[in-house]
Amino acid sequence: MLLRLVTFAGLLQIARSADPVVACYTEYLHPPTGSIPPGLCTHYQLIGLSPVDWLGNFVPPNDTVIREFASLRLRENDNRTKPVLLLCITGPNPNWSRLVSFEGNMRKFATAAAAYLTDNGLQGIDLDWEFPYWSSDASVWDYEGFAKLIEIIHEVFSPQGLMLTAAVSGPPTITRVAYNMTALNNFADLVFVMNYDFHVWTPSAPFVGFNAPLHAMPTEATELREMNSEASMRKYIKLGLDRKKAIFGMPVYNLAYILANGNFHLPYAVADGITYDYTSHDLVCNLTSSPGWNRVWNKYAASSYLYNSDKKLWISEETESSVRAKAEYARDQDFGGIMIFSLGTDDVDGGCGNKVFPLTSLAAKTFRGY
Ligand SMILES: *[C@@H]1O[C@H](CO)[C@@H](O)[C@H](O)[C@H]1NC(C)=O
Ligand SMILES: *[C@@H]1O[C@H](CO)[C@@H](O)[C@H](O)[C@H]1NC(C)=O
Ligand SMILES: *[C@@H]1O[C@H](CO)[C@@H](O)[C@H](O)[C@H]1NC(C)=O
Ligand SMILES: *[C@@H]1O[C@H](CO)[C@@H](O)[C@H](O)[C@H]1NC(C)=O
Ligand SMILES: *[C@@H]1O[C@H](CO)[C@@H](O)[C@H](O)[C@H]1NC(C)=O
Repeated sequence: MLLRLVTFAGLLQIARSADPVVACYTEYLHPPTGSIPPGLCTHYQLIGLSPVDWLGNFVPPNDTVIREFASLRLRENDNRTKPVLLLCITGPNPNWSRLVSFEGNMRKFATAAAAYLTDNGLQGIDLDWEFPYWSSDASVWDYEGFAKLIEIIHEVFSPQGLMLTAAVSGPPTITRVAYNMTALNNFADLVFVMNYDFHVWTPSAPFVGFNAPLHAMPTEATELREMNSEASMRKYIKLGLDRKKAIFGMPVYNLAYILANGNFHLPYAVADGITYDYTSHDLVCNLTSSPGWNRVWNKYAASSYLYNSDKKLWISEETESSVRAKAEYARDQDFGGIMIFSLGTDDVDGGCGNKVFPLTSLAAKTFRGY
């Protein structure tokens, strides 16, 4: 009987993984669970409340948070449309490096996680380690360590029908040193490629830039030519990642910059800093109806930016057009699905005048064709 149940769980997992994936990151109460329409996403990853502990303890969010999250599944009566709920594990690089340096601790973590997930009606975990080996506070053994970690978790999870996913780097400079693709193919159910934060303001790179360009611009040379979603996905496929496990990630949030000179607003114009006042879609969708705001579409990036010369503001934004272009690309490339980061920064209440979660739902509809 036990064996039959186990086999059945395994088959369910396989059946599910062939369906188009729309995997959405969500934070506790951002958005409120009740505001998420049934069927919006096939997978939800709750992020921010499960820190990685190097001793191998599994640290779940509190019961209030988990009950709220589990309701996304419980409220669905039709078993076929019940979403997959994943707890996303995050934390500082040194904790990951230390966790993966002791096999016993990894096994302890996997076993405790499996018990917790089963007891609480969740289907798996998502590992968000940014980034093995590459980061300045990473360790030389991270590449092997990460591969070993997913091997051990898979060993414990798969007989129980539990899922393991990983959020992985966009920039190919990181990808080529951080991940063993054979291990990802063998042990991860889905691989969420974080195609965003390609241009982030720093004092040593004080320029505006598209957060999540689709293709390179003709003016971009050397490493800059690789800082886009297409180059990112190509790197994974070239290194051998299974196309159906490769999930094309896209942001629905915006990045806003303070221009050094309001009259210079082309991509790579000099910026004095950043501001977080325009992060979510509902805060920018109507800006061009206010004086001084302009929107510029870039066909290579398949993204637009908003600028206001008087206010010296420049915003890399996501729009219906940008998410549609990316979802079409992901569909044409036959990837397993798309990933959205994150639901709380879409137009949760429908304030843009269209409908609730307009970017997420358009991306899903474009990718799936329904
Ligand atoms: C890292 O792991 C240690 C040791 O288990 C734990 O005490 C600490 O809270 C973790 N750090 C973070 C930021 O989660
Ligand atoms: C549970 O965790 C959430 C998120 O950190 C927090 O807002 C809430 O106050 C906690 N509730 C309890 C009962 O501890
Ligand atoms: C859905 O799945 C549950 C648990 O496996 C089962 O008890 C229930 O009968 C199923 N419902 C339908 C409508 O198939
Ligand atoms: C990558 O992972 C596979 C599967 O675990 C392993 O057999 C192989 O040795 C690893 N490759 C490297 C270069 O570590
Ligand atoms: C944005 O514009 C739409 C269409 O004109 C309108 O229905 C909606 O109320 C506006 N939303 C905001 C937040 O101003």
